[in-house]
Parts: sequence; C-alpha cells; structure tokens
Amino acid sequence: METALYAICPFCRTRQDVPEGQSATGVICAKCHRRFSMRRPEPAQAAAAPILRFERPHGAFERPTLVERSFETVDRPGVAPSVTMAPAAPASQVAAAAAAAAAASPVTDLEEETGPPILAEPDAAEELAAAAALRAIKSQLAAEPAPSRLPAPGAAKARRIGVMLSKGGVGKTTTAVNLAAGLAALGRRVLLIDADTQGQCAFALGVTPAKGLAEFVEGSADADTALLPARENLWLLGGGKGLAGLKRLISRKDFGGERTLDDALAALDARFDVIVVDSAPGWDALTVNVLFYVHEVLAPVALEAMSLQGFSEFLRSFAAVSRYRPELSLAYIVPTFLDKRVRGPAALADELAALYPDRICPPVRYNAKLSEAPAQGRTIFEFAPRSPGAKDYHALARRVAAGAREGE
Ligand SMILES: Nc1ncnc2c1ncn2[C@@H]1O[C@H](COP(=O)(O)OP(=O)(O)OP(=O)(O)O)[C@@H](O)[C@H]1O
Ligand SMILES: [Mg+2]
Repeated sequence: METALYAICPFCRTRQDVPEGQSATGVICAKCHRRFSMRRPEPAQAAAAPILRFERPHGAFERPTLVERSFETVDRPGVAPSVTMAPAAPASQVAAAAAAAAAASPVTDLEEETGPPILAEPDAAEELAAAAALRAIKSQLAAEPAPSRLPAPGAAKARRIGVMLSKGGVGKTTTAVNLAAGLAALGRRVLLIDADTQGQCAFALGVTPAKGLAEFVEGSADADTALLPARENLWLLGGGKGLAGLKRLISRKDFGGERTLDDALAALDARFDVIVVDSAPGWDALTVNVLFYVHEVLAPVALEAMSLQGFSEFLRSFAAVSRYRPELSLAYIVPTFLDKRVRGPAALADELAALYPDRICPPVRYNAKLSEAPAQGRTIFEFAPRSPGAKDYHALARRVAAGAREGE
C-alpha cells in the first residue's frame, strides 16, 4: 500500500505532504504558510482512520514539554512504535475525516482548559539549553556600556519603534499589529510599517494595499498612495515581495545603504505620534536599515530555549549596530507564549525580568484567539475583546504609551 505522512492545515484545510523524518511539530502550511503542529495518532487509531489528529494551531515554540508528553504515550515500551507513516487516502476522505476531527476536538483557548496548574516539568535538555542562552544574555548585558534610556521624543517627531528579533515565529507580527492597534485605540496617530517580504500585517488587518514600503522608498508612490488607512488613527505602509527589490537596491549602493529607510521615511515623522515597524526574521540589509531607522527596539521573546538563544544572538548584532547609533535603545522586552500551566516558560519569564527589570514588559500569554484573529483580518481587540490576548496587548500598549510620557 502506498504510504505517506500527511496533515490537514487547520487554518486553510489544505492537505500537506509531510516529508518522512520531519518533526511532527512546527509544520508550515505550503498554502497559507501558517505554522501548526499535529499529534501522532495512537497506533490503533492510525490503523482504523488514515488521518492524523491535530493539536490546536499555534506558533512555533509554545508548550514543547506538553508535546513531548503526548509523544511519550505513543512511544512507551511494549506498544507499537509511534506512527510516522499513515496510509494515504483520497482527498475526499481526507477532507471528511479532517472535518470530523475538527468537530471532535475543536480549537479551544488554552486558558479555558481544565487541568492542574502544573502539567509538566521542564524538559532537562530544554532547561540546559535555556540556561546556556541565559548565560550568553548575561555576558552580553555585562558588556553593555550603560543601560540605555528611553529616548525623549522631540516636539513634532514620531517615536519609531522596531519590533525585532532574528528568530522566526516569536510573535513579532502579532505584537506589531496589536500594539499598533492598541496605541491607535489610546488616541495615538500610528503608522504600522511592514518591513517583511511575507507582508502579513496587511493580512492581519484585512486590507490589501496596492502600494507599500518598497514603492514609497523607491519613489514610485507618494505618501498619499502608499499609506493605507487601516483603522481609525492607524495607517499601514505594507510589506510583501516588492521588498526583495528594495533589498537589492540597498545592496547596490556604494555607501550609505544602511540609511536608505531613514532617508526615505524621515518626512513621515511629522504626521504620526508613533511609528511601529514589523521586521522580518533573519538578518539582512533591510534588518540593518530598520535598526538605523528606529529609535527604540521592542523584542518579543518566546519563552523557550531556542528563542532565548536567538535573543542572545540578536543582542550581539544589536550591540554592533549600536556602536554607530548610540541613541538606539533596546527599550522593551516582551515575553511571549507564556503558558502558566508549564513551569519552564514562567521560570524563564522570571529570569528575563530579573535581568532586565526596567525593560521587561508584562508577558503575552499563549492564547489561541491571537492565532485565529489574523485569518479574520481583525485585531485581537476586534476579534476577541475579552480574551487574555486582548488584555495582554492592551497592557503592552499602555506600557509603551507610558514610556513616551516618562521620557518627555
Ligand atoms: N500569544 C500567542 N498565543 C498563541 N498564538 C500566537 C501568539 N502569538 C503569536 N501566535 C501565533 O504564532 C504564529 C507566529 O506568530 P507571528 O507571525 O506573530 O510571529 P513572527 O515572529 O512575526 O514570525 P516571523 O518571524 O515568521 O515573521 C502565528 O500563527 C500567530 O498567530
Ligand atoms: Mg512576522
């Protein structure tokens, strides 16, 4: 019989062929590019039903320990080894089984789930990796010349805040969109700039910009054309594939390439109170440009070892750029994907708070509503105003808004 490991994306319901050997967590949908994880079936189920059951959609890193626990039950000695291959089935059967599976285990908010407060101990390897990452962060912190203060914004100058971390899937876009919306709701005139070729800010806000950041910087669109009103007090300068051309343009410059964004966007300062930049994962010419453009950096750090390690890498790169821009401030550190039912993330949140007492922000909890809202083109405040996600981003917006007042 032909066999294949496959999954149904819980967002767009597209069938995915999962290469043999790929981890069952962190599958990225080939169509809508969202991450989700799947639970391997009990062997008996796998034989009866050729469909894998899924955990709720989520970001890349939350609840690793819980995922391991679900594998353990499948892999325990004496029971058939975990099912990594499932028989292929016709697409119609797959869709029907996916619908049945979705009905049987609907996506629920983690906060609403029952269960003891601590479900799992941190995984030993995860703990070791997190400890190593924390040591690297501490040594980076010790090398800093002096704690950087929040910059005092000038009279008619917008604050420019970059939401940045090289690690992917830590909640940058979620944070940029909902922080921008939260600040707009507090009465600030906000511009959200999407500096990512994925262009997901527009998707999350349910708008379709005809022109965006690339066209504005290259000069083929003026501010009135490129800046899209997205909500009351909130405008979007969209990202997307066009930014690849902008990166080439920056790289071709003989000198001053790193100030391309700063030069092109400076005139927008007078129009806004706050400019929030959503940056891409990784490190390239555009990331460096964002660091030469913004005044303050807000780093979302997912509470697990890989993200902490990414944060420590980012600190090193940030320090290198800071030498040329001493006014640049790592102003806010936002722990994301906090799951209070697992000890590891909460402990890491405490460690970060101890390391950065002035810059740590209230954490953003794991909340399924945050991953459902973008598909509806709505902010968390519109989609689920009473959810933990809305409360956490409201608290963050207030904290960031207060930062300006303290600095003034
Ligand atoms: N607190 C949260 N609780 C649950 N899901 C979340 C949370 N924050 C973000 N997500 C989901 O996790 C996924 C990754 O988040 P997001 O796209 O914001 O990360 P990112 O850092 O911008 O990723 P990239 O590096 O690819 O740009 C998304 O599906 C998002 O909806
Ligand atoms: Mg993003």
